[in-house]
Amino acid sequence: MCGIIGYCGNNGKASSIIFEGLKKMEYRGYDSSGVAMLSGDGLVVKKGVGTLEEVNKKYKLDKMPGYMGIGHTRWATHGGVTQINTHPHCDCKNQIAVIHNGIVDNYQELRDDLIKKGHHLISETDTEVIPHKLEDEMKMGRSLEEAVMHVAPRLHGSYAFLAISTKEPNKIVGTRKGSPLVVGLGDHKAFAASDSLALSGLIDQLYLLGDGETAVLTPDKTTFYDHTGREIHKKFIKPDVMWGESEKGGYDYFMLKEIMEQPKTLIEATNQDEENFTSIALDILRADHVIVTACGSSRYAALVGRYLISSVGKKFAEVVMASEFQYFADSVDKNTLVLAVSQSGETLDVIEGVQLAHKAGAKIVSIINRPQSLLGELSHHVIYLNCGPEIGVCATKSFLNQVAVFYLLAFSMVHCFDMAVDNIRKVGKQVSKVIDWNREEINRICERYYKKNDFYFIARGINFAIASEGALKLKEISYIHAEGMPAGELKHGTLSLIEEGTPVLAICPGDYTYRETLSNAMEAKSRGAKIIAVSDENNEIYDHWIRLPKVHELLYPIVAVVPLQLLAYYMAIKRGHNPDMPRNLAKSVTVK
Ligand code: M6R
Repeated sequence: MCGIIGYCGNNGKASSIIFEGLKKMEYRGYDSSGVAMLSGDGLVVKKGVGTLEEVNKKYKLDKMPGYMGIGHTRWATHGGVTQINTHPHCDCKNQIAVIHNGIVDNYQELRDDLIKKGHHLISETDTEVIPHKLEDEMKMGRSLEEAVMHVAPRLHGSYAFLAISTKEPNKIVGTRKGSPLVVGLGDHKAFAASDSLALSGLIDQLYLLGDGETAVLTPDKTTFYDHTGREIHKKFIKPDVMWGESEKGGYDYFMLKEIMEQPKTLIEATNQDEENFTSIALDILRADHVIVTACGSSRYAALVGRYLISSVGKKFAEVVMASEFQYFADSVDKNTLVLAVSQSGETLDVIEGVQLAHKAGAKIVSIINRPQSLLGELSHHVIYLNCGPEIGVCATKSFLNQVAVFYLLAFSMVHCFDMAVDNIRKVGKQVSKVIDWNREEINRICERYYKKNDFYFIARGINFAIASEGALKLKEISYIHAEGMPAGELKHGTLSLIEEGTPVLAICPGDYTYRETLSNAMEAKSRGAKIIAVSDENNEIYDHWIRLPKVHELLYPIVAVVPLQLLAYYMAIKRGHNPDMPRNLAKSVTVK
């Protein structure tokens, strides 16, 4: 979480370039933001609480004078959402400014030590120790980069930070460990940022900074150092043009745009290397144990995937919540295959679990959307989702493509990759139908139930995870409590919460789960529930019918999840919330 960007160049518009970059990284955190610029007047810092737009209105971040600077958009970890805790943070003399993404675990110890030495720290953040530590190093005669290379190894935890100083006003120094940082170069301009997306259209060369490496940026020359301080020559990669697109394309919110483009992005999921799939499929079949690890929506996609791997590939796979993975690490060995699923490839819980499995000798296969991710670097094989940047905090198109990739993988285990590709391509058209058929009805449902405090989502078999995914979407952006569960579980406790008018959404396509799910929905209706059914068959017990097309039973998750995304979206709008920026959340969760 948190987005950081630094820019130096021979272009007078430095602060507006930084501001535009921050806009593209606002998905990483949006509770407060700030910019520090170096100009003829020295160091100027402006920062405030609220969305980037709100802060900019007040402080004109994009109009600050100066030829180079650094900017930050925050998701608070240490210290509340206040102006003082907002980045950039400075040293005692306001000569050094630092922005940081990550957590300095030993900040308390460092802070106590700095205070003993007479430093004046004003915020509650872990970050603030960094500029003060740099101040001490520079006082001893070290250059800014020497100071950074001395301080960084003393920070425990994860970090990517950028520093500027009035004493060396021609450079930005950046380093990282555990949190992402890329460097981009264009014609007489240099950037560093948490995400290459922020640099799209601005650079010709992209460098991925490795753990412990440091970059010194000036408009005309950028130098890289390894963790020992030795200069190194890094290879650049061509920036990926597909990742340049991050506009709303006429929609009010990214989330709606991302829902609507799913028929198209689903096709992209099938543009895969068959050999890669075959080799991974063989590895899955050979492994003694297959563990799938993921968080949030990616975990729900993994639960669908587990079902596909079992019913098509006839192999049992266990899905372990990534934040709990470490507690199972003892049973991982070289005969284990770990499938890590993550849209961002940055989620710390996933990365830490994978690191443990890697150490234990397991084979690591990742299913990722973002190119050049930390997770990708740790993996033996990577499958990409190919759905382009997903900016809305809700996972929508990435979820659909994860399910599609699992479908391809399961059929690769029985040598039917081509058939699976055809099936996914065809189901894209059915996704368009689901959207067209149901938008009005979903809006009616929102109108009727938007004041409710609780929703229950039920389904069976392969569709159970879709019930959980639908509930997660609803709570995440509309702030209505929602629970998703296997329909058969309702009577084991939750049924006692059903009362007159409680909305129960039942996913009951006309497959092998139909009869039993319907009967569980009836049990809820008998206790007063209002039944919202997601099905290809209408039934008199339904109070509302969200119509699905008939598809093969293994493809229902793909068509059934889309109306649930729309339900959450319209519910958020009806309740007056911004679906792209739900409170307290961020898109990439890079903390534990
Ligand atoms: O980038 P990841 O797929 O690893 O992210 C995992 C979860 O944080 C993510 O799916 C989260 O649950 C979504 N915001 C849900 O819509």
